[in-house]
Amino acid sequence: MRATKIAISLMAALWVGTAAAQTVKIGLINTYSGPMASNGDQIQKSIDLFMKLNESKLPKGVKLEFIKRDDTGINPETAKRLAQELIVREKVDLITGVVWTPNAAAIAPLTAEAKVPFIIMNAGTAMLTTLSPYIARTSFTLWQSSYPMGEWAAKRYKTAYVAVSDFGPGHDAQDAFNKSFKSGGGTVVGNVRMPPPTSDFAPYLQRVKDAKPDALFVFVPAGKSATALMKGFGELGLGQAGIKLIGPGDITTDEELPNMGDVPLGVVTMFHYSAAGDRPANKTFVAEWQKAYGAKSWPNFISVGAWDAMQAIFDVVTQQKGKLNADKTMAILKGWKNPSSPRGPISIDPETRDIIQNEYVREVRRVGGNLANVELETIKAVKDPWKEINNKK
Ligand code: PHB
Repeated sequence: MRATKIAISLMAALWVGTAAAQTVKIGLINTYSGPMASNGDQIQKSIDLFMKLNESKLPKGVKLEFIKRDDTGINPETAKRLAQELIVREKVDLITGVVWTPNAAAIAPLTAEAKVPFIIMNAGTAMLTTLSPYIARTSFTLWQSSYPMGEWAAKRYKTAYVAVSDFGPGHDAQDAFNKSFKSGGGTVVGNVRMPPPTSDFAPYLQRVKDAKPDALFVFVPAGKSATALMKGFGELGLGQAGIKLIGPGDITTDEELPNMGDVPLGVVTMFHYSAAGDRPANKTFVAEWQKAYGAKSWPNFISVGAWDAMQAIFDVVTQQKGKLNADKTMAILKGWKNPSSPRGPISIDPETRDIIQNEYVREVRRVGGNLANVELETIKAVKDPWKEINNKK
């Protein structure tokens, strides 16, 4: 008798609970293990911090439930299976996360088929957004940084060597830099593609040293690969040989600068985010990050991609009061804006669903005892040049 009463009151409590709460289910595909897990850590820390500071701003009774899945690194088959499970079994309202281009490309067709919005927090190959009308991206494209980098470099250097990781973002960085550096009058004396993930760059860097270019343009993925690249560049003495290292900001990623010794000093990169940016929104972001994770912990562009995706998700959820409709969600994302992201003003291009943002010319300098990507020049409101040049939507 007593047991029945307890059971009935428990059921009542549960019923009241469900009636009052509107839970939005978010499938989060991220890299939590394996040699590239530091990039996934940036995403997770950013989501946790955003939730801690903003959860109370959600409409009353609305909750976000993150269903986390580990893709373990560049692993398209795994990513596809995880997305399938999240869509079919978990019936998620949207998918987000995804550090790696090959994984995002494998997930994309499923989002189109099932009409599930997919907000890319990192993967940066230009064509990804063209693979499904249900994709929007809050991160960047490699064309956005590498194309203006080539224009900048052509005004300063006669010759350049181009070395990139042999997968989507590397190919984009290579194509973009080659195109703008050559049209600016520069000569590319060599191109090499290196397998990802690589930690031994010596054989490639030796070839570059022998070719004696004025500049070496490199893309390798942020995180430990970037630190390994910098170590190789220092050990082989390319800097002393007069070769200037340049690239997209992935190679001087903020959280790894403390692990790179003095080699990055003077390296110039083009990028949309620096932890050293002096915008008030960035000062607050970095201060909150260090309060949560310690004074030696630095957010990077991957955390900012996740941070801004979270703001977009909050806006989508708030405007629909927690009951998400896929087409309504995409309509809100098209043209979504944040005038004061830590990286500066950003918006989602309604035509391409890709991000429009500033690019900054940065140089690694010592600031208050730490190495920092100091922003020197701003190129405002850059759209993905690959889509602009090729008229892609
Ligand atoms: C990507 O897979 O698109 C990617 C990964 C790491 C980066 C940049 C792009 O640093």
